[in-house]
Amino acid sequence: MKRPIVRRTQAQDIPELIALQARVYPSIPPWSQRKLREQLDVFPQGQIVAENEDGLVGCASSLIVLWDDWAESHSWKEITGSGTFDNHNPEGRTLYGAEVFVDPAMRGLGVGHLLYEGRRSLCRAMNLKRIIACGRLPGYHEHAADMSVEFYAQKVVWGDLHDPVLSFQLKEDFSYCGVVEDYLPEDHESCGHASIIAWLNPDYDPERPTTIPEEIPL
Ligand SMILES: CC(C)(COP(=O)(O)OP(=O)(O)OC[C@H]1O[C@@H](n2cnc3c(N)ncnc32)[C@H](O)[C@@H]1OP(=O)(O)O)[C@@H](O)C(=O)NCCC(=O)NCCS
Repeated sequence: MKRPIVRRTQAQDIPELIALQARVYPSIPPWSQRKLREQLDVFPQGQIVAENEDGLVGCASSLIVLWDDWAESHSWKEITGSGTFDNHNPEGRTLYGAEVFVDPAMRGLGVGHLLYEGRRSLCRAMNLKRIIACGRLPGYHEHAADMSVEFYAQKVVWGDLHDPVLSFQLKEDFSYCGVVEDYLPEDHESCGHASIIAWLNPDYDPERPTTIPEEIPL
């Protein structure tokens, strides 16, 4: 099997992307064609997919935000404009990770790592200060009767529990910054909660503005 590549999402990927998302989250309705088109219209450089010889195997969607507007409190719906990305603000300094997923049949093979590398390339190319995301905690429902979501996330950070998403993100050099309750109520595996994670761009130059090149090598 050839190593997947990461590239910018194209409008013609949309039907395949919706089918992939439906396989990833069988109990959550996938994005509509219209929302995916809006995301591409608003911020085409921020939408990337992973592809191998059989087709799409993953996706990472991002927008730029003025983090101070959202830092104290936000839900997934609020910050992403219910998935339309109409809060995208090219004046911002923060790349916000709205979604990342990999085909269930392709997990644990480094596709998620390639997508995260792609996001870090976007962040560097645009001279953004950081990537922030609110990550799912899909292992939490198995422990929710025994501990708070904060304690669960701490145990993952300490290495005493493994979470399919947070453990991966920590390995990707993101820092755990706390829990957001009721971030995505329909995410039953995470009991609706998420962890805030951040990665600081070591190349960020505060003297230079955010620049959004038409083409960004991934
Ligand atoms: C989170 C997610 C994107 C990770 O994608 P992935 O392709 O499995 O990620 P990777 O393969 O790069 O890394 C996953 C694990 O495999 C390991 N791995 C990667 N390549 C490997 C290889 N060649 N051999 C052995 N292990 C490998 C990684 O070290 C990592 O281990 P960890 O779970 O202990 O951290 C994926 O699990 C997913 O789509 N989940 C469902 C959707 C979701 O919840 N998304 C998050 C939204 S916030």
